[in-house]
Amino acid sequence: MRPAALAGVFALLAAPAYAGASIGIGPPLPEVESPVDERLFPPGPERAFILENCQGCHTLNLVARSGGDFEGWSSRLVRMIRAGAPITRAQIPSLAAYLAKAFPERPRPQPAKP
Ligand code: HEC
Repeated sequence: MRPAALAGVFALLAAPAYAGASIGIGPPLPEVESPVDERLFPPGPERAFILENCQGCHTLNLVARSGGDFEGWSSRLVRMIRAGAPITRAQIPSLAAYLAKAFPERPRPQPAKP
């Protein structure tokens, strides 16, 4: 393979980490590239659906690293639909409830005291 072709492949591989960086959720972490620990997703009817439908554009790590309440997850899911995720608005309440329980809002790190 020519070097140029290889560079293209690497650019594609790097894309999910890039999405994370461009939305300001911090620098791409090494674990963004590693397979997500599916045990982070508790059992429930929504689990299989999420594992199947939420990693077409980014890894599940992006999901597992996020937190929010029901409202937060609902509006996020609306954004995912706008981005092209294969879910319907009717599915949002059950998915948001599941995600809010699995990944609740986490306290933000406090700024260091001077
Ligand atoms: C069609 C592509 C696509 C699919 C499928 C998709 N997402 Fe996303 N997702 C994005 C894009 C693009 C971003 C980054 C930009 C943004 O946040 O709007 C993102 C970012 C995120 C984030 C990062 C935090 C945030 O609020 O932006 C979370 C969490 C997330 N998606 C959850 C999900 C869940 C849950 C699903 C499955 C229901 C899903 N995504 C399916 C495109 C997608």
